[in-house]
This record gives sequence, C-alpha cells and structure tokens, in this order.
Amino acid sequence: KYVRSNCYSDVSSSVASAHSPVLSVRRHLYDVDFPLYKQPVEVGFFSLDSSRRFFNDARMLRHYVEADRCPNFNLRDGYTDRFIKRDDGIKERLDHLLRWILENRSKLQRTPVDGDASGSSCRLSADFVTWRGHLTKLLTTPYETQEGWLLAVTLFNGTYYISEVETEAARRNRENRTERHAEMMYWGYKFEQYMCADEPSGLPDPSGVVNTNEAFCTVVQTKLTDHSLLFSGEVDCKDDSSRFKAAPGYYVELKTSAEICTPKQRSNLHRYKLLKWWAQSFLPGVPRIIAGFRDNDGLVVSLETFETAKISQLIKHEQNCWKPNVCMNLCNAFLSFVKKVVTQDDYRVVYLFSWEPYKDVSYSVHKDSEYTFLHDWYVREMTK
Ligand code: A3P
Ligand code: MG
Ligand code: MG
Repeated sequence: KYVRSNCYSDVSSSVASAHSPVLSVRRHLYDVDFPLYKQPVEVGFFSLDSSRRFFNDARMLRHYVEADRCPNFNLRDGYTDRFIKRDDGIKERLDHLLRWILENRSKLQRTPVDGDASGSSCRLSADFVTWRGHLTKLLTTPYETQEGWLLAVTLFNGTYYISEVETEAARRNRENRTERHAEMMYWGYKFEQYMCADEPSGLPDPSGVVNTNEAFCTVVQTKLTDHSLLFSGEVDCKDDSSRFKAAPGYYVELKTSAEICTPKQRSNLHRYKLLKWWAQSFLPGVPRIIAGFRDNDGLVVSLETFETAKISQLIKHEQNCWKPNVCMNLCNAFLSFVKKVVTQDDYRVVYLFSWEPYKDVSYSVHKDSEYTFLHDWYVREMTK
C-alpha cells in the first residue's frame, strides 16, 4: 500500500558525487517519484515506567477513549501540583532500543537467506537502527528553516546505528525556555491523559498525575528503497475498536494545536504542523492522528481526526507547500550518503553528520570521543 512507485530513480548520485564530501538538501533535487517504502511491520515493543525503567512488554500502552466533539478539557489543570517531568538533560541516546535488541535478538538475526555470507552469528537483519524521531528530522529537513541537527553514526557488525546529538542551539533553547513555553509543553501530555485509559474498557482519569517518564514504544521493521530499517517510536495509544486488528494499524497519535479561527491559520496548520505530524506517523505506519484544538487559556474547544494517508491530498491546495516525495527522497539520499561515507566498522568510531538550515550536510570522524554511543555491554553480547 505504501509503494507509490517501483521505478524509483537514484537521486543520491546527482547530489553527492564521489568527490563531494557533502550532501545537498535542496528541495528541487528530491522532487522525483515517491520512493519505495514498505508497509512497516511491528516486530516488538517495550515500556518505560514512571521512573524511566525499561520493561520488555506493553505495560505502558494506553487505550483510546472517544471524547465529546466539544470536550472543554482544561489542559492547564495539574501543571503546578500533579506533574512529574522527565529530566531532559539526561541523554539516553539509543540505550533503551539497544536493550530491546539484546533481549530480542533471536528474532532479528540475519539468516543465510538474507545473504549474509560472513557467518557472523549476531549480524542484525537491518542496515540501520535508530529512533523514529531522528528519521522524522531527516524527512522534514528540506523544509526546515529554524533548527539544524547533529546525527552520530557508528557502523558495527554491518549495521549503521544513528543517534542524535543535541546541538548547542537546541541546548540553549532547552535551558532558556519561558515559563509560558514550559507550561505549553505540558498541555500535550495533559491532553493524552484526557483521551486515554490504562485499561481497554476503562475511563480516563484527569485527576491523576502526568508523568512524562512513562512511555510505550513500538519497534518496527521496514525498507526505504534498498535500505532496511529497524526503528522505534513512542506511541500515544491503541484504539481497541479500530478496523485494523494488528499493530501498527490500531495505534493513534494524539496532538494539540491552537484553535483555528481564520483561513490563514488553517493554511499555516497545513503548511507547517501537518508536515511534522505526517512525517512522525507515516514512518511507523500509524494511520490516524487525533488533534485537540485549544484556545490561549488551554481549553480544548474541538477535536479533529486526520488520516495520515490523506494528508498529502489535504495540503495539495496550498501554494509552495511541502511534498511527501521530497521528504522521503531526501531521507533515502541521506541513508545512501551514510553508506558511502561510513566505512570503518568499529563501535568506537563515530561519523558525526551535521546540518544547518540553508547549508549542505557535512561530516567529521571521531574515535573514542564523547560522541561514542554503543556501549561495551551491547558490543560484548552482540559479538558472542
Ligand atoms: P503535542 O503533540 O500536542 O504538541 P507527541 O505528540 O510526539 O506524542 O508528544 C507529546 C507532547 O510532548 C507534545 O504534545 C508536546 O507537548 C511535547 N513535545 C514533544 N516534542 C516536543 C518538542 N520538540 N518541543 C516541545 N514540546 C514537545
Ligand atoms: Mg507521544
Ligand atoms: Mg502525540
């Protein structure tokens, strides 16, 4: 269903020549047919509890509860007295995903049918391992004008691991958030609490604590052209009455946004927010996004459902709008660029890819540096 074109032409060769150590992200280079993207398949999941402890199960999966059309949820409720915020100064890198891989590696090893002639017993059946959020950043890069990124890549045992590094600018923004901005970040989580129950037939409990340590993450496998991907992403909830009877089809993404009063505001939603919403949900195959529109006082005044697959149609009327094919082709070109550049198979080596708005992607190489992110415990177990 995800295959829009099977005659994909390799644009990476024209944007990163053999002599060029950089990759251009200019939109027009990627405005070719939509690349082959396989329907993502869930291969597992894990949970992080209220103390951010890892569990190899679905204990933190929440269940979608249909709300009134005009719900009047107060998103400010509990901010000062029932909010436990995750410490975002702690960098977890790929750690939880690596732990999931170790505990589930029998499901993931490359079989001889996959063409592994080397005989190494713990080679993964994926070219790339990363977080969904890192791929979302790649998808939105051709249209991003504000924030750059740093992506650390290590080649280990034939698999490229991609882990984000916080830029100096992002760290400054994080440390200098206004009180208003900090409160508005809470609103998204409070909305989830109004919309979800802990049990399949349960009811939401808005009197409870919002704890942003808690998470349920799906792990999916898919392919973008000739790149096989294994990535994980946080999932907001499951719709138990979905017509899809398997994951990720029954997952629902929840979002909040400012209420829409003018055609200009609707247009801005399409041009900026829907790009991020689409990229985040399209990658793991989450078919439905439910948005709560709130006023400036944090009251949710209406709800709207967006089907991920229909977003590209919805935005077609906007002039100079983003295009899904450009997003996916750029991501594909970046992954090809990584395969060309990253040649040393060594868990102590990091190739640091760097991008700033209006610039090309460039990279530098670091051995035994602060950027190294594959742990001894992982390497030891995976080479046993
Ligand atoms: P909204 O989605 O309603 O903005 P997610 O939507 O990915 O499940 O994230 C849940 C909430 O986390 C968001 O709710 C928002 O409040 C907060 N959040 C996530 N990423 C953020 C970011 N980059 N900046 C600010 N807030 C963020
Ligand atoms: Mg979420
Ligand atoms: Mg959400």
